[in-house]
Amino acid sequence: MSAPLIAVSGLAMRYPTGRVALTDTSLALAPGELVVILGANGCGKSTMLRCIAGMLKPTGGSVQVAGRRISSLAGRELAEARMALGMVFQNAHLVRRRSVVANVISGTLGRHRGLAITLGRLPESERPFAMTCLNQVGLTAFAEQRAGTLSGGQAQRVSVARALAQRPLALLADEPVASLDPDAAQELMGLLRRLAHDDGLGVLCVLHQPELARRFADRILGMKDGRIQFDTKPAEVKETEVAGLYVKTTETLAA
Ligand SMILES: Nc1ncnc2c1ncn2[C@@H]1O[C@H](COP(=O)(O)OP(=O)(O)OP(=O)(O)O)[C@@H](O)[C@H]1O
Ligand SMILES: [Mg+2]
Repeated sequence: MSAPLIAVSGLAMRYPTGRVALTDTSLALAPGELVVILGANGCGKSTMLRCIAGMLKPTGGSVQVAGRRISSLAGRELAEARMALGMVFQNAHLVRRRSVVANVISGTLGRHRGLAITLGRLPESERPFAMTCLNQVGLTAFAEQRAGTLSGGQAQRVSVARALAQRPLALLADEPVASLDPDAAQELMGLLRRLAHDDGLGVLCVLHQPELARRFADRILGMKDGRIQFDTKPAEVKETEVAGLYVKTTETLAA
């Protein structure tokens, strides 16, 4: 197995409210691998993704991204390390009045500086590269269309293209299919798997659909009450183990 792109070790997160969202969580994500995280509401999935992305400082443990300890970085160094991680969320968060390709170009902004950029101008020199990102998600024909006119499935694929425009090593996707219909959900999961298997990205994806996890993931990571319960290949995960993630415990009820 190749060296991990993301190595999470003994991660702990206690919010200022006293809520413990993660306890001693460890995982590794290799290039070319699609790992799906399953777990009930409130079990700590988004907290983990936010700690990995450097958006939240964990209260214990460490996160390494491409060998750099992201949890110890700040300022310019943190911003650079974060470019290696493309984020995809439940909603595409596109600028609706801008064209599809302009939305994708905005994914390159972390690599650009200068007054024009600060004033909100997009780097036109990135247009050809943005078109190759749109090609990866099969939407070059929509490049000049206003983003607000897209269907939910198309918009989500544009948000993946925008993440690809960062030239990331890994994608972190937090419930990327939550607002999509079954066909669009399958299409998006197929796209994420292709980006992992064909283009060598590491993909870590939170889902609430065990059947999609079984169908598309290389590994399924089950989380409960801020801990990893299992980390296994889909064929080896038992139905009872998956069902157990959603059984309420005293801890879950307190969340
Ligand atoms: N900013 C915060 N301050 C305090 N507690 C928080 C904060 N964010 C999350 N929590 C708590 O931490 C726990 C984990 O939340 P998190 O959002 O990581 O769960 P999740 O697994 O992503 O859930 P869901 O499936 O509903 O998205 C929950 O008990 C939540 O209420
Ligand atoms: Mg969440």
